[in-house]
Amino acid sequence: SSTASRDAAMVSDTVREKNELADISWDNLGFGLVPTDYMYVTKCTKGGDFSKGELQRFGNIELSPSSGVLNYGQGLFEGLKAYRKEDGSILLFRPEENASRMIMGAERMCMPSPTVEQFVEAVKLTVLANKRWVPPVGKGSLYIRPLLMGSGAVLGLAPSPEYTFLIYVSPVGNYFKEGLAPINLVVENDFHRATPGGTGGVKTIGNYASVLKAQSAAKAKGYSDVLYLDSVHKKYLEEVSSCNVFLVKGKTISTPAIKGTILPGITRKSIIDVARSQGFQVEERLISVEELLEADEVFCTGTAVVVSPVGSITYLGKRISYGESGVGVVSQQLYTSLTSLQMGLTEDKMGWTVEL
Ligand code: COI
Repeated sequence: SSTASRDAAMVSDTVREKNELADISWDNLGFGLVPTDYMYVTKCTKGGDFSKGELQRFGNIELSPSSGVLNYGQGLFEGLKAYRKEDGSILLFRPEENASRMIMGAERMCMPSPTVEQFVEAVKLTVLANKRWVPPVGKGSLYIRPLLMGSGAVLGLAPSPEYTFLIYVSPVGNYFKEGLAPINLVVENDFHRATPGGTGGVKTIGNYASVLKAQSAAKAKGYSDVLYLDSVHKKYLEEVSSCNVFLVKGKTISTPAIKGTILPGITRKSIIDVARSQGFQVEERLISVEELLEADEVFCTGTAVVVSPVGSITYLGKRISYGESGVGVVSQQLYTSLTSLQMGLTEDKMGWTVEL
């Protein structure tokens, strides 16, 4: 009977989930999807509130062909990570920051959003349900991907009548194929990521589809990724396709100021605070592309990329090199400080981690 087969399925789930770790090769994780056990799903109507969602087996979802997200890009995503500690507990990093950013983005994209509490609770529930997929200490992290989308049917351009908030997870290792070795960027001169008044400052899905062409062209030429300039003056640094950028010169660290076209990264914000706590002067300001020539070090930050040292940047055919001898001292120091805190190896004086 269907009841018996459902019971059998539940028993085998329970047996499987007793295993502390999933049976995968933890040493070769890159940044690709590894399907896990459960995803969190909840829906609401336009003008409504999200009710408490539920865990479902991870798998495909059903969407109207005329859903707002598929037709008009009414969608947002978030990204955060969970690390396993030596004692078996699990640490989340600043999940309430992702919740707040989703609320801001939802406002810009005319979508309802879960409250901070709902978001954080949903993240915790999803991570615990997929606990065996959190990599062992030192082998990576569990990447958590919350999605908010217009799932109801529309035809004319309008906000969707129904919304879905979903969270899935995947164990991940290093984002760039270079691993922790410095990456090589190229400054993009023809395409721009964002425009003033546009959506560059929120994590809407369209910001990421629109960089694929420049990113693919750069990868075909052997670069790791693209560094974007502002679309008005074609002169000031903005960000890389999937991360923010920082320049180091002596004891001063600079990063482009948030002004609507730059994604307010949580790793960006955290690195600014960590650097200040270590005596660096941190400036958020306009940074001319010419300043790349004078920097001692350049690094990128993001949830996926963590702190990624930059080995070279090519601008108008000229290659500017940094730290030919490997990872820059400041980049290395900030990487170590941040990841030690995220992994629970050092005391979290900032109060940023949430233990599960
Ligand atoms: C992240 O760093 O979490 C992001 O959302 C960037 C994404 C392109 C992987």
